[in-house]
Amino acid sequence: MVFKISHIFLIFFLFPFQCSSHLSSLKKGSSLSVEKHAEDVIVSSKGTFSAGFYQVGNNSFSFAIWFTEMQNQTPNPANIVWMANREQPVNGKLSKLFLLNNGNILLLDAGQHYTWSSNTASDAPLELYLKEDGNLVLRELQGSTILWQSYDFPTNTLLPNQPLTRYTKLVSSRSQSNHSSGFYKCFFDDNNIIRLDYDGPDVSSTYWPPPWLLSWEAGRFNYNSSRIAFLDSLGKFISSDNYTFSTYDYGMVMQRRLSMDSDGNIRVYSRKNLSKNWYVSWQVVHDPCTIHGICGANSSCIYDPNMGKKCSCLPGYKVKNHSDWSYGCEPLFDFTCNRSESTFLKLQGFELFGYDNNFVQNSTYKICETSCLQDCNCKGFQYTYAEDKGIFQCFTKIQLLNGRYSPSFQGITYLRLPKGNNFYKQESMSVKDHVSLVHLHKDYARKQTSHLFRLFLWLTIVVGGLELVCFLMVCGFLIKTRKNSSANQHSYHLTLLGFRRYTYSELKVATKNFSNEIGRGGGGVVYRGTLPDQRDAAIKRLNEAKQGEGEFLAEVSIIEKLNHMNLIEMWGYCVEGKHRILVYEYMENGSLAENLSSKTNTLDWTKRYDIALGTARVLAYLHEECLEWILHCDIKPQNILLDSNFQPKLADFGLSKLQNRNNLDNSSGFSMIRGTRGYMAPEWIFNLPITSKVDVYSYGVVVLEMITGKSPTMMNIEGVDGEGTYNGRLITWVREKKRSTCWVEQILDPAIGNNYDLSKMEILVRVALDCVEEDRDIRPTMSQVVEMLQSCE
Ligand SMILES: *[C@@H]1O[C@H](CO)[C@@H](O)[C@H](O)[C@H]1NC(C)=O
Ligand SMILES: *[C@@H]1O[C@H](CO)[C@@H](O)[C@H](O)[C@H]1NC(C)=O
Ligand SMILES: *[C@@H]1O[C@H](CO)[C@@H](O)[C@H](O)[C@H]1NC(C)=O
Ligand SMILES: *[C@@H]1O[C@H](CO)[C@@H](O)[C@H](O)[C@H]1NC(C)=O
Ligand SMILES: *[C@@H]1O[C@H](CO)[C@@H](O)[C@H](O)[C@H]1NC(C)=O
Ligand SMILES: *[C@@H]1O[C@H](CO)[C@@H](O)[C@H](O)[C@H]1NC(C)=O
Ligand SMILES: *[C@@H]1O[C@H](CO)[C@@H](O)[C@H](O)[C@H]1NC(C)=O
Ligand SMILES: *[C@@H]1O[C@H](CO)[C@@H](O)[C@H](O)[C@H]1NC(C)=O
Ligand SMILES: *[C@@H]1O[C@H](CO)[C@@H](O)[C@H](O)[C@H]1NC(C)=O
Repeated sequence: MVFKISHIFLIFFLFPFQCSSHLSSLKKGSSLSVEKHAEDVIVSSKGTFSAGFYQVGNNSFSFAIWFTEMQNQTPNPANIVWMANREQPVNGKLSKLFLLNNGNILLLDAGQHYTWSSNTASDAPLELYLKEDGNLVLRELQGSTILWQSYDFPTNTLLPNQPLTRYTKLVSSRSQSNHSSGFYKCFFDDNNIIRLDYDGPDVSSTYWPPPWLLSWEAGRFNYNSSRIAFLDSLGKFISSDNYTFSTYDYGMVMQRRLSMDSDGNIRVYSRKNLSKNWYVSWQVVHDPCTIHGICGANSSCIYDPNMGKKCSCLPGYKVKNHSDWSYGCEPLFDFTCNRSESTFLKLQGFELFGYDNNFVQNSTYKICETSCLQDCNCKGFQYTYAEDKGIFQCFTKIQLLNGRYSPSFQGITYLRLPKGNNFYKQESMSVKDHVSLVHLHKDYARKQTSHLFRLFLWLTIVVGGLELVCFLMVCGFLIKTRKNSSANQHSYHLTLLGFRRYTYSELKVATKNFSNEIGRGGGGVVYRGTLPDQRDAAIKRLNEAKQGEGEFLAEVSIIEKLNHMNLIEMWGYCVEGKHRILVYEYMENGSLAENLSSKTNTLDWTKRYDIALGTARVLAYLHEECLEWILHCDIKPQNILLDSNFQPKLADFGLSKLQNRNNLDNSSGFSMIRGTRGYMAPEWIFNLPITSKVDVYSYGVVVLEMITGKSPTMMNIEGVDGEGTYNGRLITWVREKKRSTCWVEQILDPAIGNNYDLSKMEILVRVALDCVEEDRDIRPTMSQVVEMLQSCE
């Protein structure tokens, strides 16, 4: 082999951002050298991409492709889109990349050994050149046969129009600074489905699509074996398994990259040009705690949209490596098999995924505890109530993996610990995750872009967090369900019964020609009806909708996939001509508003507390847990319906949007104030950015109304009017009363009577007053509200 290291074929480029000279391609017999990594760079025709040696550590380099950086810019690893030798960086001395005369590309480390090669061979004249789309191609000079291209060997990044195929996969980096292969993989599995796997040092598992869903339940099609997916340059992702999404900035001309990040999330990043920063324009997982292995073994993960995710060790465990949580936690005690030396610690709302050693369908607590004690390997058990079946289920665990607290999980985990130790305090060390703190940037589509992009007109640039506006973000077409939750099983029944499209004439018959009106709102009129299968339904006929059929259906399909026991169930819809109708389950006990004003005292203290908690849970779900984050924007007692057990069901969400879309397309953000006088947060009046905290505010007002029995709108009539003080009367009144002694009796709705829990009452009032703080940053998030309300149960 002859290494003719020459630069005969160099073509010198004068480049706007780089004064140094660069190559347009590498020909046979020539090489790039690490010592000259600043100049020995292959640049694409318009300069968008560069390929060469990229410094990844002290004296260590990888042969990489990156978005060209400006000369004075500090190198940003986020610009790297491909690496030849990610596992083995080469030395900063004597390392070279050759295009040999036999047609092979070789990477030589420190002048001694080869760390990477393209395994190609050809006698024809060849060139290695970088296309403007970031694809590094080895091709014949005549005939332009392609022998090798970097697009066929992605690392953790896909560029627009670069296909993910059956032969390729994305593998995350170990960390943001260590580019070696990490634990997370994205690929087409043997069932033709794109999935995400955690492939850790000890265990591996699939975490997306949610593993307890069958592929069709996750909206996937597993019979198309072409196994191909790509992100197009406008921001739409299309896959042969029918999984598709569009970025928030869909349609705008952007530089984009899709990356399997080191924290297991797939994100699309966009930027206008190289002088701008990358921002996240889409991500697949919204609650990072659902990503397996994220906090390691024996730990718990908790997610707060403002703070990001937090890992902690379980009680009795200590962290293994403070700088890397993927190592997890190890026990502070020795396990004993002696039954009489074990005790169990109750962790409310804590869920572990996987490693169930034993499952008992209909179990008592005692049976569950005994079955754990009998097994030396049992580290704890999960005990959950399946509401629809009316039984308790028992899962014993041999490993404590993928643990997380979640406001919507209604089971309990019991952790096995040795007796006599005081492990009841969780180790307080916890980490904040920086990646998940990346703020989603929501840009408005420019008016002139296209009418197609109206969809995105409401996206507001939110200054302080991940909150999205009153818009069903099309972020993933997954059915959000939960393995153990009864709400989930209920929804399966519904799926079997059929979420369906009704014809107009069917609904006309069902409602006896729309005769039995039971409610009326801004969005339309609600009628009671009986469906052909004899189910009682609430049928909402939307006012004159100018919305197109496609758009309406897209939204219906999103609403359909939401799932929470405190959310009203949608059974179907009708779209025919100008008719837009939604079919919901019928709620016997009417709305919270009706019950509060009823003379028959239907709501005792326990019911009111449960309603406050259930409503908080569903809002936490909508704001933080479901895959399309949603703001309700119209929380009021009229929209909280009560089922036969007086459990709250939130209704009417998303509908104001269905109605108002056409009024909104001429402005950035909300041109119209949404919500109802008396319950609206000050942000609406002062024209401040709208975040999930507007719902928190309205929730606080509703809770105050439940406690006092006084409606904020009534208070308004007697008192001050004027926009600034808006709903302030009820709140001010409660705040003032609270300063006196025996305040509880003074504010309490007489209908509640004396039969209440004083400490719970105090917590509820305190939480409600926190929720109605003028300053939205002081208000808690809904999951914090859930936590506070649960803490005293
Ligand atoms: C890396 O190099 C910098 C200076 O170039 C030096 O300060 C630092 O200690 C080095 N780090 C290691 C781990 O060698
Ligand atoms: C990067 O991660 C790999 C795999 O975990 C590890 O072997 C290597 O030592 C790490 N490199 C650095 C510089 O930390
Ligand atoms: C997949 O998508 C295509 C086009 O949108 C549609 O025709 C087809 O019915 C879908 N398949 C399944 C199984 O959903
Ligand atoms: C399979 O997927 C490919 C790529 O998305 C598409 O072109 C093709 O029509 C699909 N085939 C079937 C049978 O759906
Ligand atoms: C990047 O875009 C901004 C605004 O869109 C423009 O002012 C700037 O000149 C652009 N920079 C480059 C290097 O193209
Ligand atoms: C902790 O993790 C860091 C980063 O991966 C690694 O450099 C260090 O060696 C680890 N320490 C221990 C004690 O394992
Ligand atoms: C987690 O804890 C168990 C004991 O409950 C222990 O056997 C295991 O090694 C721990 N895992 C790690 C990664 O330390
Ligand atoms: C189990 O522990 C109890 C109390 O500590 C002790 O009395 C008993 O002997 C132990 N049994 C075995 C088999 O070690
Ligand atoms: C569950 O078990 C209890 C007692 O063993 C029994 O009475 C009940 O019928 C069982 N329920 C179901 C749904 O199997």
